[in-house]
Amino acid sequence: MALLNATSSRAAATSSRPAAAPRVAASSRAVRTSAVAPRGVPAAAAPARLPALRQAVIAAAVAAPSAPAAPATPAKVTDQKPTVIITGASSGLGLNAAAALAKSGEWHVIMACRDFSKAISQAKRLGLPSGSYTVMHLDLASLDSVRQFVDAFRASGRRLDSLVCNAAVYLPTAKEPRFTADGFELSVGTNHLGHFLLANLLMKDLEGSPSANPRMVIVGSITGNTNTMAGNVPPKADLGDLSGLSAGSVMIDGKEFDGAKAYKDSKVCNMLTMREFERRFGGKKVHFASLYPGCIAETGLFREHYGVFKTLFPLFQKYVTKGYVSEEEAGKRLAQVVSDPALNKSGVYWSWSNTKGAFENQVSEEVADDGKGTKLWEISEKLVGLA
Ligand SMILES: NC(=O)c1ccc[n+]([C@@H]2O[C@H](COP(=O)([O-])OP(=O)(O)OC[C@H]3O[C@@H](n4cnc5c(N)ncnc54)[C@H](OP(=O)(O)O)[C@@H]3O)[C@@H](O)[C@H]2O)c1
Repeated sequence: MALLNATSSRAAATSSRPAAAPRVAASSRAVRTSAVAPRGVPAAAAPARLPALRQAVIAAAVAAPSAPAAPATPAKVTDQKPTVIITGASSGLGLNAAAALAKSGEWHVIMACRDFSKAISQAKRLGLPSGSYTVMHLDLASLDSVRQFVDAFRASGRRLDSLVCNAAVYLPTAKEPRFTADGFELSVGTNHLGHFLLANLLMKDLEGSPSANPRMVIVGSITGNTNTMAGNVPPKADLGDLSGLSAGSVMIDGKEFDGAKAYKDSKVCNMLTMREFERRFGGKKVHFASLYPGCIAETGLFREHYGVFKTLFPLFQKYVTKGYVSEEEAGKRLAQVVSDPALNKSGVYWSWSNTKGAFENQVSEEVADDGKGTKLWEISEKLVGLA
């Protein structure tokens, strides 16, 4: 079953909110206006492109055999199987976790994706059973889209038992920054701020879950943890004193743009956010977790990397570091964090070893810095309009 909820309400919601205030410093504005997002809708230019996109999406949804034409107002769902929302479920880790959970027969998966037709075709390619998933539109590079997604999800009447903040962009070869619809550097805006708003808005839905311990999972990475060898490959993650984030600079530390570092910084933000959720809401009903699923060296995450890197990196991970993990195995690991009773402990950063399976890993000094976590939360709340 496929549901086209968010697109029809987007125009109304967009026009009813004030235009986003320019965030970037004057020196970056020219770049922003010519910026092109890697796939899908260029966020900054989205309004002009939306009608065409909507038509393509509607056509794809209607054409797909398991995707009946979407009703104007989605009917309330009466099937109350536990429901998990996975962002970025059209590719790599998110897609394979969606497949593992949908095929288990225990879960209904909401594939929260920016590219509706891609999500449908990938779900079919991996053989997700019909009726076990719903594709809904979510563009994390637009805070309006995040809010509309939450409204559309609530309108569906589904319960919420797990939220997986998985989607990410990685721009290691970018010479110039790109920006979200709201004017944030694309990696931090998508990977951190879009998820920060989504997770905060959906907290009350998780708290209302019939499950004893609904779970919020925010995908982290070894590359954001400087207590590891991979985390020490330059440029290293470093949020500094967060003055760049609060002042509207391109980078969180206020320094020169570096696409690889922006991604690593965003992963530090993801792990700090999970830990701050635990400090604020832990010990109650909702449980929180982050994870490093292993090096899934062939996913779309590396789509913008140099060709030679894309050829050699998987070989290096398979035969030298031995950190390589297939998309399917990584998907099972993420599904485990969502559903395995053995991984119900809250506030944990999970990793896997070939001998021990899942274990509680240590985070870097920066990720363990509670003061920084609190400061990041407070700044982020203001930036996404929650405070
Ligand atoms: N690959 C690794 O080795 C590795 C290691 C550690 C952690 N991770 C983490 O694993 C997670 C998934 O990465 P992956 O390796 O599976 O990469 P991937 O295959 O590129 O998947 C990323 C997903 O994010 C989606 N996405 C990107 N921008 C979006 C936006 N604005 N709104 C909504 N969705 C958006 C993509 O959508 P499209 O399909 O439309 O592009 C795609 O579905 C990330 O959090 C990453 O940091 C990966």
